[in-house]
Amino acid sequence: MASIRDPTAETTRSVMKSLLLLCFALAPLRADDGATSPEPADEARISYEGAQLLKVTAPSEEKEVALRTLQDMEGVDTWLRLATNSSTVDVMVRPENADKVKEFLDGSGLTFDVIIDNLQAAIDTENPTMTTDEMEELEGRKGHRMTWQSYHRLADIYGYLDYLAQTYPQLVTIQTIGNSIEGRPLKVLKISSGRPGSPAIWIDGGIHAREWIAPASVTYIINELIENRDAHGESVKDVDWYILPVVNPDGYEYSHRIDRLWRKNRRGSGYCAGIDLNRNFGYKWGGAGSSREPCKEIFAGSSAFSEPETAALSKFVSSHTGTLKAYVTFHSYGQYILHPWGYAVGYPHDHADLSRVGQKIASAMYQAGGASYKVGGAAATLYPASGGSDDWAKGAAGIKYSYTIELRDRGYFGFILPVQYIIPTGRESLAAVKVLADEIANGR
Ligand code: ARG
Ligand code: ZN
Repeated sequence: MASIRDPTAETTRSVMKSLLLLCFALAPLRADDGATSPEPADEARISYEGAQLLKVTAPSEEKEVALRTLQDMEGVDTWLRLATNSSTVDVMVRPENADKVKEFLDGSGLTFDVIIDNLQAAIDTENPTMTTDEMEELEGRKGHRMTWQSYHRLADIYGYLDYLAQTYPQLVTIQTIGNSIEGRPLKVLKISSGRPGSPAIWIDGGIHAREWIAPASVTYIINELIENRDAHGESVKDVDWYILPVVNPDGYEYSHRIDRLWRKNRRGSGYCAGIDLNRNFGYKWGGAGSSREPCKEIFAGSSAFSEPETAALSKFVSSHTGTLKAYVTFHSYGQYILHPWGYAVGYPHDHADLSRVGQKIASAMYQAGGASYKVGGAAATLYPASGGSDDWAKGAAGIKYSYTIELRDRGYFGFILPVQYIIPTGRESLAAVKVLADEIANGR
């Protein structure tokens, strides 16, 4: 089967047929736990055999109502919600729900393309893993197992951070700022030339577990700032960097071991486990675009900063507000450079600065990697979502330049971005933070 089809009536019908045929396939297994066992047996892993990614389009403005109904429908997993000035949503449909979704699409006059016709096949080819021999060779030669040829497990990422701290003790230090709900350390890497009072930049990634390109790009930035330090000009040396590559280590590991599409942290267990950490920050917590229902992907938690991951991050960032001038959080996907506010359409008093620097970031990213990123207020450009880390960094911590960068792509691979995109996306990410270093470095 072709992976992309035209949404003509005829192909739509044949796609409907394939959805229909798949709807009696086995339902994927849901693992209740697996958090403490070493490597899960294959049956503990959730299978996406026969699940499809659809790009659904409203052919006219009136039909957008139907799109909004679709993206909140029970049994539909929305990958990318309807954004401002867009008329499409990306939804994943599991075989057991294909019938119901088919009926809805049939009746509502929405058209669609099948972007991925078997998600499990895409997952299986996304991340070729290294053999033990290759891993040992690498570790022996370089002192760590990190590469930008594949998406790595947390142990490889942390091993790499430890290697850097040991190898460059004058430049690099590691601080564990707290522990995740399952007890994994939250490791912040500090890169500093050692001049007291230097302006500083915070970078994080992996608040959302399944967005693997974010930790991969953040570690790419780390590698360039340290191992390739002289290639990037003076301003990167004039600022201090605080970098947390994996905000949600439990979710990240869970997405590697059990469920590739897990988003939240791992509080609790079962289908309704987890809190959306990017709805759990204490600025306009609980407002639009967040949910009080634990089973929802955008569950905000029982209260602001109820989660150890967000509590640790906010405590650490709050204690460095004297020097922190920029906060950058990497997500995927969609290719957006978003600045406050995200809780509602509206802008801070220095909107002009955020927008100007945002545009600079977009051009630098385009030059570095070739992808186009759209710049704007988060709620105005994407959709309103309250309790986000970007709004908190700006509104509560008072950090001037606060951005959420949604990395590649625009919904062809979505979260399942093949490994050959790591380096170009990493280059774009590095270009983005270099713009911020230029902006805030001494003398500006
Ligand atoms: N995709 C991100 C999310 O849904 C966007 C966050 C943008 N920031 C915001 N405060 N709404 O979490
Ligand atoms: Zn995200």
